[in-house]
Amino acid sequence: MTQLPAAQTAQKKPSDGGRALYGGKGTRRITVRDIAAAKERGEKWPMLTAYDAMTASVFDEAGIPVMLVGDSAGNCHLGYETTVPVTLDEMTMLSAAVVRGTSRALIVGDLPFGSYQEGPVQALRSATRLVKEAGVQAVKLEGGERSHDQIRLLVESGIPVMAHIGLTPQSVNAMGYRVQGRGEEAAQQLLRDAKAVQDAGAFAVVLELVPAELAAEVTRVLHIPTVGIGAGPETDAQVLVWTDMLGLTGGRVPKFVKQYANLREVMGDAVKAFANEVVGGAFPQEENSVH
Ligand code: KIV
Repeated sequence: MTQLPAAQTAQKKPSDGGRALYGGKGTRRITVRDIAAAKERGEKWPMLTAYDAMTASVFDEAGIPVMLVGDSAGNCHLGYETTVPVTLDEMTMLSAAVVRGTSRALIVGDLPFGSYQEGPVQALRSATRLVKEAGVQAVKLEGGERSHDQIRLLVESGIPVMAHIGLTPQSVNAMGYRVQGRGEEAAQQLLRDAKAVQDAGAFAVVLELVPAELAAEVTRVLHIPTVGIGAGPETDAQVLVWTDMLGLTGGRVPKFVKQYANLREVMGDAVKAFANEVVGGAFPQEENSVH
């Protein structure tokens, strides 16, 4: 008998295992309707960031149902210090690569700073590029009440939107990297933001760096799924930045990250072995040569 992945056995079992987002049998691309159905079933699901075709294909083969081409590409892939300098051209190029590398995952393209803050029409123009040129199935943008009108126009235009509230890294110059929603007033604002993005038609909402109890309350109150990052165990889904969770990121990673591998060490050791063999004449051997 096929063994169900641990993630499936530890939670309320979907009535139809074939449709499960993770571990399900389906091979067609996941849609936002599948995401809504998972919330109804009480099914938890994993999301990872991805920035290139090859890495995305590994995650797709592993069954990750939703991938975010996050503007975290700025600091995790493109060498910027923050997400602020990332451009729409860069996000379009990276998103297209991730779409090409996958066949099952729902791909969400992030709208970078400056590509939607002017208003709904600018947001629609930017999102349309990601959908038409890159082929993403949904977009993500930051902000709660302040982004309500942008989300509404995108959704009315047929573009599914994942919202993002709590810590919003594009506002780092204004808010820093601090836990959000601490204290009664801030908690009430977070709840208002969550309801505003749901009301605008978002199909899911990322909660970043929010106290676990508040994230649990938002998850109970909303009918759309919550995707937590540093938001405790009660959200419907969990997202991590892939370079953090696989140990490729250099230096310190946030406390909420769990590292499932140490790719930086694995790659560094392999590269040194190659370099030593080249210098010592042990590579290439006869079997690596053509005649
Ligand atoms: O850009 C990103 O990777 C994100 C996630 C951290 C949610 O916004």
